[in-house]
Amino acid sequence: MEFDERLLSARTLDQEDEAENLRPSRLEEYIGQEKAKENMRIFIEAARKRDEALDHVLLYGPPGLGKTTLANIIAAEMGVSIRITSGPALEKAGDIVALLTNLQPGDILFIDEIHRLSRTVEEVLYPAMEDYEFDIILGKGPSARSIRFDLPRFTLIGATTRSGQLASPFRDRFGVLLRLELYTTEELTRIVKRSAGILNIQVTSSGAREIASRSRGTPRIANRLLKRVRDFAQVIENGVITDAIADEALCRLEIDRLGLDGLDRRMLTAILTQFDGGPVGLDTLAAMVGEEAVTIEDVYEPYLMQLGFLNRTPRGRCVTDAARKHLKEEK
Ligand code: ADE
Repeated sequence: MEFDERLLSARTLDQEDEAENLRPSRLEEYIGQEKAKENMRIFIEAARKRDEALDHVLLYGPPGLGKTTLANIIAAEMGVSIRITSGPALEKAGDIVALLTNLQPGDILFIDEIHRLSRTVEEVLYPAMEDYEFDIILGKGPSARSIRFDLPRFTLIGATTRSGQLASPFRDRFGVLLRLELYTTEELTRIVKRSAGILNIQVTSSGAREIASRSRGTPRIANRLLKRVRDFAQVIENGVITDAIADEALCRLEIDRLGLDGLDRRMLTAILTQFDGGPVGLDTLAAMVGEEAVTIEDVYEPYLMQLGFLNRTPRGRCVTDAARKHLKEEK
């Protein structure tokens, strides 16, 4: 069956740029996520030794931590092809059928934002994952007939920011569940140095550390800030990124000492001043700062919670004294 190339993810220029330059292509170049990486290394080696397809893998955790990168690395380490698509791109059962029937034995199908798959697509995926076959019903009424498709052994890698949103029978069909964590400043410092080397940017150790410590535990943000700080270094200095230049550039970009941006500060301040620290419901908070609730939940809150600045309680979000203190100091 032919498939439509548009089903494969459209990559933005930013991602393209990262994919070509900055993303590691093998496990040994991949910095951080030690637990996930070591476990993955074993599963890959075992599958290779048995000459089998890898079990289905679910990668979950906040955005920007390298889920797509890791999927590409797994394909490279297994020596198989990877097809990349995303939950929202697969609308009809026919979309997933076309992708599945074009897979070779051992191939990887990567579905980003897998929590956004439609019910009908999920229903094809269940038997495909479990028994490597599925039935499609053609036609309606008395003339309807069902055709069975047999698939080669393949590996589905799903990525999601919210594993809790997957139906549990779906989650249970993944043999490997890997949770990616926010990176430490040390790990991000190594990533910034590595990226600087690839992009031919001169950065001192303390300069790299300054960028790393203001990147919210997220390599995608660290790489973006590195490029922006380079602009300042080239225009207002001799091009070398020192901690002083990084600090000046990041202050001008309104990114504070801990990496908080304008929206983080507006959110914390709004809860403190209008609700005396909380609790505030997520939707109220979203309306107060003019951002979507899911973005607040997936993108902003994980880092604020890691810092100990925000708690999620059954009655809503609460800001901590540590956050109050930080906001005062940054004024
Ligand atoms: N670039 C983005 N993420 C990375 C990682 N985890 N290791 C090395 N380089 C990266």
